[in-house]
Amino acid sequence: MEQETILILDFGGQYKQLIARRVRECHVYSEILPHTTPIETLRARAPKGIILTGGPNSVYDPASPVCSRELFSLGIPILGICYGAQLMAHVLGGQVAPAATSEYGGTALFVDNDHSPLLRDMPPETSCWMSHTDRITSAPSGFTVTAHTPDCPVAAMEDPARQLYAVQFHPEVVHTPQGAAMLHRFVKDVCGCQGTWQMSSFVEEQIQALRQRIGAKRVLLALSGGVDSSVTAALLSRAVGKQLTCVFVDHGLLRKDEGEQVRAVFGPAGGFDLDFVSVDAREQFFAALKGVIDPEQKRKIIGEQFIRTFEETAHSLGKIHFFAQGTIYPDVVESGAGSDGAVIKSHHNVGGLPKGISFEGIVEPLRTLFKDEVRELGLELGLPRALVYRQPFPGPGLGVRIVGEVTPEKVRIIQEADAIFQEELRRFGIDTGSGQFFAALTNLRSVGVMGDHRTYDYAVALRAVQTSDYMTATAARLPYELLETCMTRIVNTVPGVNRVLYDLTSKPPATIELE
Ligand code: XMP
Repeated sequence: MEQETILILDFGGQYKQLIARRVRECHVYSEILPHTTPIETLRARAPKGIILTGGPNSVYDPASPVCSRELFSLGIPILGICYGAQLMAHVLGGQVAPAATSEYGGTALFVDNDHSPLLRDMPPETSCWMSHTDRITSAPSGFTVTAHTPDCPVAAMEDPARQLYAVQFHPEVVHTPQGAAMLHRFVKDVCGCQGTWQMSSFVEEQIQALRQRIGAKRVLLALSGGVDSSVTAALLSRAVGKQLTCVFVDHGLLRKDEGEQVRAVFGPAGGFDLDFVSVDAREQFFAALKGVIDPEQKRKIIGEQFIRTFEETAHSLGKIHFFAQGTIYPDVVESGAGSDGAVIKSHHNVGGLPKGISFEGIVEPLRTLFKDEVRELGLELGLPRALVYRQPFPGPGLGVRIVGEVTPEKVRIIQEADAIFQEELRRFGIDTGSGQFFAALTNLRSVGVMGDHRTYDYAVALRAVQTSDYMTATAARLPYELLETCMTRIVNTVPGVNRVLYDLTSKPPATIELE
């Protein structure tokens, strides 16, 4: 059966990924394509519908991105959003002009036609998220205006006979309360999608596609134990078994028991058929980091040391044809690559391709998936839940969670303290999925008293931040009892620690990691 697809034409809108996300919530595959995609390509893809994104331009500026009139006569349902709506109006003979007042943010929305396939079941007055300077002042002939706002006479318009729909506001953002339902109606009712896109069918399709591409050749993957590389390993193992070699470099800066977990899942005793190479590079890493206190230099050393170890190992493996990467859809979209061409994820660990080895190609089987879909896929492939729902962990590992010189002793302290923190977070039922929760080692040593003895030991900082984009973050309001329990357990059971602090600082001004 042909896969139901909704194509999203990108006119530079900042919310394009969200649109794709909303469509996939309906179990319909969606893909973002450049607005320059030729009509023949669009027709050949036979999408069930097309969505035109917003964008920062004005339709009457000659340099602005455009689409051909033919797009609107393909007989494929189209929804224009913001700039996409204005473009539809402009190309089909309506009028677009600068508004006297720009609308940014939440705005009252009045529904003028509750029979509209798109706006059906909506209350007569609701709210929507606006972000525009131009507005449609007159809808093209054949269109009916279905909603307005105080400053926008055509907030929504449609020509159901031609299956053309347009909204000036952004239905894809949560600030438009009825927006998701509106997009779902477009996908299901207007485009007639059944919603058949499932993770299990994705797995089958990908396995077939990978087998066809790789044939009898070999693939190399740098496995970090993080979610993306682990799911890539699991999928490739299902497709090509021992033709896949995974190299896991244990640099000694992982969380407690993490190295063992990776070996247990992917090593010979695990359930995956692959060639697993675990490199114990702990001594080399600690030797290279000895005496180094500058954070940037530490990062650089860890990165370089990683590449060197990985390259040495890769060289010893004989001829390998493909290099696999756990690139996911947000990486592809952010790099502006759309759906064309291979993108090499600038992975902090791998630093691109290993030098001196030529590969025939890059294999990126997750490049169409969002993070939560990658997690769903991981579970489908039989990876343990604890691995699939792992919190993000920086490439330089505990190296950026230990202030000052990194030593095996400090790593041990922070692994133990962090394990206690994670255990208590689970016990208190705290959802850690929306941020990063970890223990870090400050370089502060201070005086304490234990029993009758004076101590001069380290202070551990507990850091718990809530964030959606990792660019800004706020400290989580953890229950006091949880913090107190952690403090007691850490000072009582982790040698070398006599103080526990809670880091309240938001980002900015602080960063999430300590270094
Ligand atoms: P900061 O500390 O800059 O961290 O607020 C933001 C996010 O990035 C992660 N992070 C890194 N990830 N290599 C990585 O792969 C790095 O060198 C690195 N430094 C920070 C950090 O864990 C947080 O999610």
